[in-house]
Amino acid sequence: MTIAKLDASNIRNIETASIEPSPRLNFILGPNGSGKTSLLEAIHILGRARSFRSTQAGQVIRFQQDDLTVTGKVKAGDGLAPITIGVRLGRRKREIALAGTRLQSSAELIRAFPVLLIQPSSSALLEGAPKARRQFLDWGAFHLDAGFLDNWRGYARALSQRNALLRSGISRGIEIWNHELSRYGIMVDCARASYAERLRPYFHAAAGHFLEEVPFDLSTIAGWDTEKSLDEVLRAEIAQDLRDGYTHSGVHKGDFQVQADGRPAKNYLSRGQMKLLVFALLLAQSHLLEESLDAKGCVLIDDLASELDSANRSKLLGFLQQRQAQFFITATDPRLLEQSGSAETTVFQVENGRVARV
Ligand SMILES: Nc1ncnc2c1ncn2[C@@H]1O[C@H](COP(=O)(O)OP(=O)(O)OP(=O)(O)O)[C@@H](O)[C@H]1O
Ligand SMILES: [Mg+2]
Repeated sequence: MTIAKLDASNIRNIETASIEPSPRLNFILGPNGSGKTSLLEAIHILGRARSFRSTQAGQVIRFQQDDLTVTGKVKAGDGLAPITIGVRLGRRKREIALAGTRLQSSAELIRAFPVLLIQPSSSALLEGAPKARRQFLDWGAFHLDAGFLDNWRGYARALSQRNALLRSGISRGIEIWNHELSRYGIMVDCARASYAERLRPYFHAAAGHFLEEVPFDLSTIAGWDTEKSLDEVLRAEIAQDLRDGYTHSGVHKGDFQVQADGRPAKNYLSRGQMKLLVFALLLAQSHLLEESLDAKGCVLIDDLASELDSANRSKLLGFLQQRQAQFFITATDPRLLEQSGSAETTVFQVENGRVARV
């Protein structure tokens, strides 16, 4: 899905913005504090009904205003009729409309317009806590496996019930939750593993483009000792779980790791190389999604140049040229354009919250 037209109002320092982006590369240039990331936030809100910088809509809504709105026309491919998406966020209220119909949950919106974000803090994907890596796998599995969301919700419900029981110190009745956790957990784990399996060739292609000399491997971690069944593990760990008041094993402890030349990548690569590796993972994720949905993707890249030297910036831009997705790339330095080649490119300049096509 790509954006043919976007109208945004009251997003941080942007009072109103109206753009008709290129279906391929879009550069958003401007000095610090001009509103570049805020424009990406608007696009992200169109696809997920929430910001990536704050969980509180109140922080994103322009000062003195009651709500923000983003409206977009999105297309599955060239020549196809666009559908209209509208999102309005107030401090406590959220309204989402897809092709004229009000949506109750954001899940349908996320499915209709998948948008992927790469930002400087994305390096936490490989360096930080496992939660971000589970979210990465779950986002992919959600889009590729129609039953994933129900299984994931079933697991989350069972986990919270089991933990409540553990905290009360009573183990009577826990078998039901062991059973539920293991039933849903196996399906969530399977979906994550098969997602990783499908992602691997795309990841290898992207990583090979950025870091030719290093052989990479990606593997998932279930979150329990897989020599045994999850049900067995849950039963065996009841005493420990009761003592600590929470469930130690299960897909809520799942993870994945990337090995570089047989060693954990994060202990081995430089900061710039780590950044490229995260690019490889996220761009692989969008590529796989495009092929499986048979639609172009929309990828937001905030501050592309940060921590990359000139050669790697060129490599990255060269890679983006070859892809069919729509990219929105922010940068403070207009010289980035000189490295971007000739694919259909549109440039926007942002000054004091005003967005103009150059
Ligand atoms: N709720 C708000 N209402 C109005 N202005 C806001 C609000 N929140 C933040 N701002 C201001 O919006 C401006 C734009 O911020 P933004 O992060 O989009 O800039 P940027 O162009 O991405 O800058 P940088 O190059 O430093 O990343 C900032 O000056 C910030 O102070
Ligand atoms: Mg910014």
